[in-house]
Amino acid sequence: MFALRNDLAGIDWAAVKADLRRDGFDNGRTPDELYRSFAASAHTSVAWIGDRVVGTARLLADGICNAYLVDVWTAVGYRRRGIASAMVTDLLGRVPGHHVALFTEHAEALYRGLGFEVEEVGMSMVVGRWLNR
Ligand SMILES: CC(C)(COP(=O)(O)OP(=O)(O)OC[C@H]1O[C@@H](n2cnc3c(N)ncnc32)[C@H](O)[C@@H]1OP(=O)(O)O)[C@@H](O)C(=O)NCCC(=O)NCCS
Repeated sequence: MFALRNDLAGIDWAAVKADLRRDGFDNGRTPDELYRSFAASAHTSVAWIGDRVVGTARLLADGICNAYLVDVWTAVGYRRRGIASAMVTDLLGRVPGHHVALFTEHAEALYRGLGFEVEEVGMSMVVGRWLNR
């Protein structure tokens, strides 16, 4: 069984990056950039089995009305056990009253199952170059 934690203590970010890369979900952040992006988030939910991180999710949120869900990932080998659902549900419970947005390419069923609905238009841009490099 997995356990959820909301702190970042004890996370081996190099190991997380290696697992993300293995799973094809590494977006180029160094281990330190991974840490800093999670640390700068309003809320984080991390799934552990023993001393291993098997899932991550984080919310950018203003504490008033708007939040954005990112970095939802469950390690291959631990999927379809409810880990992502538990992390996202945990995060949603921390932002009552907020409108929570996300982009997804492959996980629509996950979010629909949690109550998300597709909105008409999503728009985004990268300011300059991704990760400034
Ligand atoms: C998408 C992802 C986070 C799901 O993680 P997970 O821990 O396996 O999700 P859950 O076990 O909570 O799944 C809950 C429900 O979502 C749906 N779902 C999850 N993965 C699915 C898949 N690959 N295909 C179809 N439905 C899926 C199912 O309805 C599932 O319920 P069920 O297992 O009872 O049928 C995981 O597959 C992943 O990390 N993928 C790569 C990264 C990614 O795409 N992240 C989303 C970015 S927005």
